[in-house]
Amino acid sequence: MSQTKPVYASFRSIGAYVPEKILSNADLETMVDTTDEWIVKRTGISKRHIAADDEYTSDMGAKASLLAIERSGLSADEIDLVLCATVTPDYFNMPSTACIISDKLGIKDVQAFDISAACSGFVYLLSVAKAFIESGMKKNVLIVGSEKFSSIVDYTDRTTCILFGDGAGAAVISATELEEEGFIDLHASADGSYADFLVTPAPGCINPVSQRVIDEGLNFVQMKGNETFKLAVKTLTKDVKEILAKNEINTDDIPHFIPHQANYRIIKAVGDALKMREEQVVVTVGKYGNTSAASIPMAINDIWESGRLQSGELMLLDTFGGGLTWASALLPFAGKSK
Ligand code: UT7
Repeated sequence: MSQTKPVYASFRSIGAYVPEKILSNADLETMVDTTDEWIVKRTGISKRHIAADDEYTSDMGAKASLLAIERSGLSADEIDLVLCATVTPDYFNMPSTACIISDKLGIKDVQAFDISAACSGFVYLLSVAKAFIESGMKKNVLIVGSEKFSSIVDYTDRTTCILFGDGAGAAVISATELEEEGFIDLHASADGSYADFLVTPAPGCINPVSQRVIDEGLNFVQMKGNETFKLAVKTLTKDVKEILAKNEINTDDIPHFIPHQANYRIIKAVGDALKMREEQVVVTVGKYGNTSAASIPMAINDIWESGRLQSGELMLLDTFGGGLTWASALLPFAGKSK
């Protein structure tokens, strides 16, 4: 009787897309009561990119995906599952953005769906791709984190409008028989009792579109910033400590710690608590702001494109966001070096 060899999910390629238009801190100074100095000091953000009026989450996702597919060495018709993580879908909530991305890429007759896990979306997708691949159901999964966050930001609210930006990142996750190329570990979790920390109250069945929704601005993201900040530092640090301890890996052995890019002060506090050296910690928040589900793949793409991420090197991902949701992953980059 022939025995089936085990298969592992491997991170095969990365791509990203950033819209052209830049919204600088100087621009924001003319829109709300804030200063470049306050924003840089409290968040580390200098600018963020904003999609054009007629540029949508699916457009950005498709552009990032094209690069990821090309860099994987596969052709689009070898992709057998398309997943998108977003809280700013093209439509609330049908059809899914994953379906639209598949169509824009010419990928026909494959399963496609979205997930909603806010800033944790990309690492959540890694867990979904892993499950599909390691169960033998799929071979090459395209995962996309894409956000037109500017579509849910109130540009008169200085506590949120300084933080968020638009963009997309995508990766191809493929089956491999080589254990050393596979994900090492992944942990994802959630606690809905903190649902009101980060919320877009409308549209949804609680607040269907109405004049009241418009008058009260319920279609915009609302955040308990300071409370979220404190919980983010605590949770991100705990999550990393646990995944490293479980796998008997020291922080020193991590060349690339890639945390969610929400606020430089969060990243610095977590990095310091873990005794990470500066060169281990990937920081892109200064130029992109918080791009939610796109933040981690955009950061991975940055270090890959700059030649800093080499084939076989270990990545530690760590994220936290609305839901509340959080997740961490330990995995090698199984694609080619640039
Ligand atoms: O991606 C998902 C996870 N998201 C996060 O993790 C975001 C977490 N939160 C944050 O990044 C920070 O909490 C913020 C950047 C949003 C705020 O920074 P903070 O250090 O927590 O400030 P704060 O909310 O405690 O506010 C301090 C002061 C307040 O004024 P008073 O009440 O002390 O007079 C705010 O009104 O700063 C004021 N403030 C501002 N001042 C100038 C808030 N936003 C601004 C602003 N410009 N843009």
